[in-house]
Amino acid sequence: MYTQAIDLKPGAEPTAATPAPGERERAFEAAIADDRRIEPQDWMPEGYRKTLVRQISQHAHSEVVGMLPEGNWVTRAPSLRRKAILLAKIQDEGGHGLYLYAAAETLGVSREDLVDALHAGKAKYSSIFNYPTLTWADMGAIGWLVDGAAIMNQVPLCRCSYGPYARAMIRICKEESFHQRQGFDIMLALCRGTPAQKAMAQDALDRWWWPVVMMFGPSDSESIHSAQTMRWGIKRLSNDELRQRFIDATVPQAELLGLRIPDPELRWNEARGHHDHGPIDWSEFWRVIEGDGPCNRERLAARVQALENGAWVREAALAHAARHAGTGSREAA
Ligand SMILES: [Fe+2]
Ligand SMILES: [Fe+2]
Repeated sequence: MYTQAIDLKPGAEPTAATPAPGERERAFEAAIADDRRIEPQDWMPEGYRKTLVRQISQHAHSEVVGMLPEGNWVTRAPSLRRKAILLAKIQDEGGHGLYLYAAAETLGVSREDLVDALHAGKAKYSSIFNYPTLTWADMGAIGWLVDGAAIMNQVPLCRCSYGPYARAMIRICKEESFHQRQGFDIMLALCRGTPAQKAMAQDALDRWWWPVVMMFGPSDSESIHSAQTMRWGIKRLSNDELRQRFIDATVPQAELLGLRIPDPELRWNEARGHHDHGPIDWSEFWRVIEGDGPCNRERLAARVQALENGAWVREAALAHAARHAGTGSREAA
């Protein structure tokens, strides 16, 4: 789902210095200046490559871990139709993870190493997936808000300077649009239902709002590597710009649902032409990112167990491939 610019904490690994001017460097800089795509076979600065590996792999991990909170409700969906939609949505997220691991592999890293780093707790994923899904309304809130935030974040990535990442984003964004609408549809059904159903929808909004607002990552003033990432054309809009766009788009949707956004300082600012919002509790954000959110341990344990449970499939596939290769060589002889 969702890049979060979580590499931007002050003191995080620095990006490499810009290399001395040379032919390859000039070709790279010219491509960036002309808004052309950088492809895997092109020369690129090591800092650019590392930044992309980190961002794309965090994004892939987020897609895959992001299947877990919703997976919690597949067996308890309120109708066959809702269950089929939720299953399709979760499968899409698995697909997004696979495109993104493949995009990362074009940068010379292996999917196995990336997954190992996730399971060892060395790689990050979006903080939002470390919150629990307590009621069916959370399926609505996740689709409406989390996938809605993902769209804000990912649409500009369709113009990312790295070709494989930008192309993966085009299809992913189309699917995120369906995810957002299915979530809003769940919220709408609950808000038009009984008072208890509407209260359930309000409770989900109350719990998800601030974690979703944090999904865009730290404020621009804290994002010390943001300028370089934007200069390289990896990122097109700052964290605060994306957050503002999301809030401005979501406020009228909440009004349509008849729900109250849990921010007493949220109000339209005529002079700015945007909504002002209250302060964000960044200490919660960093606590969750660093591994101490409500579900961090549970999420990682589920991913490790999934890898272990699938070991026999990988072994069988390798054995089959080896036997097939043996047969092929005998036939060739
Ligand atoms: Fe996704
Ligand atoms: Fe999604």
